[in-house]
Amino acid sequence: MNGETEKKIDELLALMTLKEKIGQLNQIIFDIHDIDGIKEKVRNGEVGSLIFAVSAFAGHDEYQMPELSVLNEIQRIAVEESPSGIPLINGRDVIHGYKTGFPIPLAMASSFNMELVEKSYRAAAEEAASEGIHWSFAPMIDVSNDPRWGRIIESAGEDPYLSGQYAVAAVKGFQGEQLSAPGSIAACAKHYIGYGASEGGRDYHRTEISDYTLRNKYLPPFREAVKAGAATVMTSFNDVSGQPVASSRYMLTDLLRSELGFRGFTISDWEAVKQLMRQGVAEDRKDCACLAINAGLDMDMVDLCYSDFLEELVNDGKVDMAAVDEAVKRVLRIKFAVGLFEHPYTKKLDVDYDKHMRIAYEIAAESIVLLKNNGVLPLCKNSNICLAGCMSDEQKALMGSWSSPEYENTVTIKNAIEKICNTGSFGCCLSSVPYELQQTLRNADIVILAIGESEKVTGEARSLCYIELPEDQIKLAKTAKRFGKKVVGVICSGRPMALESAEPYFDALLYAWHGGNMAGEAIADILFGRVCPSGKTAVTFPRRTGQVPIYYNVSSSGRPVNGYYGEEEINNYEDCLGSPMYPFGYGLSYTTFKYSDIKCNIAEMSLEELRGGKCFEVSIDVTNTGKYDGKETAQCYIRDTVSDMMRPIRELKGFKKVMIKCGETKKIIFRLGFDELGYYDRYGAFAVERGLFEIFIGPNCLTGTKITICVD
Ligand code: BGC
Repeated sequence: MNGETEKKIDELLALMTLKEKIGQLNQIIFDIHDIDGIKEKVRNGEVGSLIFAVSAFAGHDEYQMPELSVLNEIQRIAVEESPSGIPLINGRDVIHGYKTGFPIPLAMASSFNMELVEKSYRAAAEEAASEGIHWSFAPMIDVSNDPRWGRIIESAGEDPYLSGQYAVAAVKGFQGEQLSAPGSIAACAKHYIGYGASEGGRDYHRTEISDYTLRNKYLPPFREAVKAGAATVMTSFNDVSGQPVASSRYMLTDLLRSELGFRGFTISDWEAVKQLMRQGVAEDRKDCACLAINAGLDMDMVDLCYSDFLEELVNDGKVDMAAVDEAVKRVLRIKFAVGLFEHPYTKKLDVDYDKHMRIAYEIAAESIVLLKNNGVLPLCKNSNICLAGCMSDEQKALMGSWSSPEYENTVTIKNAIEKICNTGSFGCCLSSVPYELQQTLRNADIVILAIGESEKVTGEARSLCYIELPEDQIKLAKTAKRFGKKVVGVICSGRPMALESAEPYFDALLYAWHGGNMAGEAIADILFGRVCPSGKTAVTFPRRTGQVPIYYNVSSSGRPVNGYYGEEEINNYEDCLGSPMYPFGYGLSYTTFKYSDIKCNIAEMSLEELRGGKCFEVSIDVTNTGKYDGKETAQCYIRDTVSDMMRPIRELKGFKKVMIKCGETKKIIFRLGFDELGYYDRYGAFAVERGLFEIFIGPNCLTGTKITICVD
């Protein structure tokens, strides 16, 4: 922020009454039925921001933005008639697309293509900005190990590094090169912090997180988002080890601002200030406001605790005027950065929706993960295909939770397959049976079952305690098998489902997530081999629900009981293997890749050199040994073999997705240094310890291809 803007902010602040200052910290719901009431509040300087949502569960609502003329008129009142003339900042959840529906974030992360993730968020930003939105409540970067949790769909999965890369791509996409440029909107990294650890996958539940785990597992994506310049951060509903985040000065000021260096403003989650009463740390709403502002929570989302009580609290001497001033300054800085003072009104942008649909197609295709293939895919020419299953004709479910209302543009899986069959070049013939397999089965060579879960059992407050594929869906596969058919499962879902009992009945499994507007076409193109699958799992797939939590970056226990890496001498459970159904980073292709010749340009490096910023390079040759050109994501993991604190058996430290033609070999190089080899110790200091480090490179976290280096 330049000195001139700071001066303007100081000048504004000097002229504002306490009431007007508090107004800047107050976000209210844009209630279409009370436009006059909103105008009145804005005119009186009681509002700093509007949120466009109809309920506390916006992810399940359908919502149409008001006309631009209405928004611009309210903005005009803020600028011309309110006492301090400060424009409003309009916020909305733009989670995985605005008009164009991109895949759910968990799917986008599974593309391992951060360029496409950035482009998707850029497209969403342009579409939202064009309708008067200045600020998105995304990206959600809560690391989670619990697929029972409905909100895992919104996250980038279980890995701190991948979530961090995802955060950077999303922030860059939303905010562009310049936040004040047309088509850019402010990002909001959420939910800070630990929300993904809600006990038992129950939404909003308590969490128990040590500082060690917080710094090494939950904070890294936020660190990256802050570094990338995320304008705002939303606090989470949960507590961390007994202290609600919304009232935690340690979390909101010491960690977020002093340690991570966050310079933007924080906003509570929906009514999270008021909820401090329920959490049992505040007596009444006034108490809630007092705790939150003193913790460093700048803007209050919709529960009016600040607007009702901050003035009194300052007058009572319970809140320092300086704390209010600081919060207001932070809000104003972002309003300046967004360009609201220069361009308060929204003009329609020339948005290229066709281009956005093409991006939606590309990322949908790259996010689909081929989990199993007995050679049945891609489909042969001239096949008789029978399509069945609850997802065949679906539009809404493919869009997932938090989707825009424009799901009518979604091409169904059936329509997309039909289109290809009708072109003639494949000579395939399709018959579809939406819910049951009937006579058509007899004539089919291949049965495609488009199955999975509805978007209604995913998202906020929609957790499940049983995440297996439903029995009636498995029954379809069993029936098809009984007829001696080849069975291909296309699973559309918001979480990694537990597939152990279903898997034997499928010859191939394509995990298509809730893939957005272009999911149907992407699925069909992969089925027919027009596109070679390249998605990799951003989250571990459990065999059965009872294995949860199961995640790859676990540390080794004293006895070999983890089981994730196949150490089965002692079993975790009497009734289930310890290994996952599909590990993190896993995904097949129609072609095959061979990893060879791992090399490092050093055998050892001194700690001093590393501290001084010296890096080393680890390279590997990846050869496409199959019959299709295809993309592969090479992944680089490290293991600190002996350390003061227990470290994960593998930790992702880099990935590269590259196109490799048949027969071609590409050398892939990872640069590693202090940041990659270090971790936060028990005192919160980031350090690299001397000793041996194993560096693994391969197609998923189970890779055994490694090289060892010594730090001395
Ligand atoms: C959710 C947030 C969301 C907010 C506003 C809350 O219930 O937890 O993720 O941004 O509502 O819709």
